[in-house]
Amino acid sequence: MEYNPFSLAGKTILITGAAGGIGRATSVECAKLGATLILTDINEAGLQETQGLLEGDGHRYLVANLTSQEALDALVADLPSLDGFVSNAGVTKPLPVKFINPDDLERIMSINTFAPIYLTQRLCRKKKFNAGASIVFTVSVGGIYTTAPGNAMYGASKGALQVFMKNVALEMAPKVRCNSVNPGMVNTNLAGRSYSDEDKARDLETYPLKRYGEPRDVALAIVYLLSDASSWVTGHSLVIDGGRRGRRRRLCQRPANGGYGSLGGGLRAAKRYARRARLL
Ligand SMILES: NC(=O)c1ccc[n+]([C@@H]2O[C@H](COP(=O)([O-])OP(=O)(O)OC[C@H]3O[C@@H](n4cnc5c(N)ncnc54)[C@H](O)[C@@H]3O)[C@@H](O)[C@H]2O)c1
Repeated sequence: MEYNPFSLAGKTILITGAAGGIGRATSVECAKLGATLILTDINEAGLQETQGLLEGDGHRYLVANLTSQEALDALVADLPSLDGFVSNAGVTKPLPVKFINPDDLERIMSINTFAPIYLTQRLCRKKKFNAGASIVFTVSVGGIYTTAPGNAMYGASKGALQVFMKNVALEMAPKVRCNSVNPGMVNTNLAGRSYSDEDKARDLETYPLKRYGEPRDVALAIVYLLSDASSWVTGHSLVIDGGRRGRRRRLCQRPANGGYGSLGGGLRAAKRYARRARLL
């Protein structure tokens, strides 16, 4: 057999947000490396499409709205023992702080923060993790390593998830490992909804590697954290951002022109949204 320390052969892995973007790319890579997958998302058509791309047999999908407690119970009841759990579903909506409102805040916190917490809690309570299992949360650089006008709700949701990840890592060691991937801007629907082409072009200049990430860039980092290659890594946040974080002088610093590419873009997108919503 070929030497491959990143093999996922024999591992059963649950992936949320598997209907597109980073979740789909992660599913494709995990299947190529031999894992058996349970995909979940609120979007059934997207799940079917992802399943159609998978190598190997035995994969299945379960449709679930992860913000529903009943759906979480039903999902967990249907799961076998797991060797891996990728908590990846997420949403964003740029809005300046003064336009934060209960509907948007509760939706973002419910999907990005509360759902991963409640799902992890249920998986622990129902003893779904095999010894040596690995949990990976898709967090972000946003709100933790970088800030942007209009990104307060998303940043707060991901910051809380990052802290949760570190506590899970401590509580579940040594049986189960827990880490996060923290991507910069990745070409997915989620990123596309927030930024205009003009803002993207200017923002790209701030990336030392001169491109945004592709979903597969993040997927392969998740594969590393799921695999036994990372068996001495827990409580770690793996930043994948084309080198951009290293360029920051200070977390919250504003440049002389009043906006750093996507930061200014984020604010403009927020204002556009607020205008459409008749908030301005
Ligand atoms: N794209 C980026 O630039 C970027 C950067 C950093 C972090 N992230 C994070 O990566 C993760 C994946 O996002 P993506 O970029 O692939 O976007 P995406 O929109 O392609 O994927 C998000 C998935 O979450 C699912 N989802 C949303 N609400 C749900 C719910 N209530 N129940 C179940 N599923 C639900 C969506 O249907 C979708 O398939 C998210 O957590 C996101 O915050 C993305």
